[in-house]
Amino acid sequence: MAVAETIYHDVLILGSGIAGLRAAVEIKRKYGEKVNVGIISKVHLMRSHSVSAEGGTAAVLYPEEGDSFALHAWDTVKGADFLADQDVVWNFVKLMPTEILLLDHWGMPWSRRPDGKIAQRPFGGHSFPRATFAADKTGFYEMQTLYNKLLEYDGWERYDEWFITNIVVEDGAFRGVYAINLREGKLYLFKAKAAIIAMGGGGRLYHFTTYAHTVTGDAYAVAWRAGIPLKDIEFVQFHPTGLIPSGILISEGARGEGGYLINNKGERFMARYAPQKMELAPRDVVSRAMMTEIMEGRGFKHEESGLEYVLLDLRHLGEEKINERLPAIREIAIRYAGVDPVEEPIPVRPVAHYTMGGIRTDTFYKVLDVEGKWIRGLFAAGEAACASLHGANRLGTNSTAECLVSGRITGLLAAEYALKVSENDVKGPEPERTKKEEDWVWGFLKRESGIPSYEIRDNTRTIMGKYFYVFRDGDGMATGLAKIKEYRKLFREKVYVEDKERIYNTDLVAALETANILDVALAVASAALNRTESRGAHYRFDYPKRDDENWLKHTIITRYAEDDVSITYEPVRITTWLPIERKY
Ligand code: FUM
Repeated sequence: MAVAETIYHDVLILGSGIAGLRAAVEIKRKYGEKVNVGIISKVHLMRSHSVSAEGGTAAVLYPEEGDSFALHAWDTVKGADFLADQDVVWNFVKLMPTEILLLDHWGMPWSRRPDGKIAQRPFGGHSFPRATFAADKTGFYEMQTLYNKLLEYDGWERYDEWFITNIVVEDGAFRGVYAINLREGKLYLFKAKAAIIAMGGGGRLYHFTTYAHTVTGDAYAVAWRAGIPLKDIEFVQFHPTGLIPSGILISEGARGEGGYLINNKGERFMARYAPQKMELAPRDVVSRAMMTEIMEGRGFKHEESGLEYVLLDLRHLGEEKINERLPAIREIAIRYAGVDPVEEPIPVRPVAHYTMGGIRTDTFYKVLDVEGKWIRGLFAAGEAACASLHGANRLGTNSTAECLVSGRITGLLAAEYALKVSENDVKGPEPERTKKEEDWVWGFLKRESGIPSYEIRDNTRTIMGKYFYVFRDGDGMATGLAKIKEYRKLFREKVYVEDKERIYNTDLVAALETANILDVALAVASAALNRTESRGAHYRFDYPKRDDENWLKHTIITRYAEDDVSITYEPVRITTWLPIERKY
């Protein structure tokens, strides 16, 4: 069966979260209808996971009150355990204030101070309260604002509920995207002069995660299969406060507003681990402290799930403040844990929340190949990208911020590139590549019996949670990696899709997502096992110290063969601050 149709746009945006929408708005406001845009998303645009972002977006708004670019940059670099590229950090902090003001002008309902100015609150690892927020629904309002803004323009089209199966890179250039229109059950080829990969992170590599079920590492997997390197992919962030038992995010804004973490002795245990910053130390520090308390017997146990936890106490904030600043947190805790934070502390434990690594890019989010050369026409933005802003540990509120900055940069650069290329010069993939894609996608429907992808996916998540969580060690990771390879083989040889219909086949989508999870799990596990030190979110019992002499470098990992990877390293760009010991 032939590919149903080829669709052309000047610029394709893969993903419709904050980064993707910001890129689209930038293209439209700068170039209007001169650049035609297609936005492909596996979900309805307003269901992109960005809508779940809660606590805020970092930016320097009040230098006259003591904040500065240097302070924001320093907090980010120190929080990153010195693995951030400092030129990227400087660029980011300088671009951010404008993003907050642009959103304000476009209708974003930022929370306000009594003097009418935009409000900001404290967040972990930031030495100034610079988390700009809209109650605890910041991402939802940012998405709504960007979407509203985009609706002012013509010359763009949405492809909601289209599942991207692969991207194509040939001869050092972007050549196209394959996607299934789920409603039709047909595979399409998209061609374009340029594409921006903004398909989010990989939270659903884990069972216990703050992320929506849709966040299955798709961006990293399509890059991986196209031979594009992933960078620093071993650094997975565990946010300290995932609600028991679901993992739903309890925003760090709750601690920013003054919440305490307490153990089963009623102690504010952070005094032992970060005496100055306490609950507002960076996430890697707080998550390790919580797990240490739990492992040393000072936690609690949720009988039904078996999950151990500590408590987040907001009672002293009072009902009025909780209702004004943390209304979603109150609602979530009541609905999903049966706990009203006005009256009782909330049960929480560290939860998979963010991928610091991602698709290798340069400072301006141009996607780089193994040799460090730009893959012509290809960009990555938001959590999908690794420009090395977050290093080994991201600070809270720097991620929605990076979505905005990288969306703006990639939108502008992709449009400028597209304007220089003639439509006649846009090459699609070689015909045999298209045939291969059809065989792969529809081949899943051929097997008459076997193992459902759900089983393989669940087992992979269990392994990730067991061996690649807050604390890691060599033996455990080697066992985990071997298991992942076993599941990959099982998937290749036995995966079975029961539903044989092509129209809206969610069983097929689950299998394709499982393939993505397995590819990314292989990359995370291999890179993590290779890094024999502890840095940021990657903590190993067998190598408990940071080792700048040998490991102040970025991991570059590439698919080599089906289950084999190639790993190289590249230096960190240090422009301003040499590494020092992190104390909080
Ligand atoms: O805790 C939060 O509200 C999450 C913010 C972030 O990850 O940046």
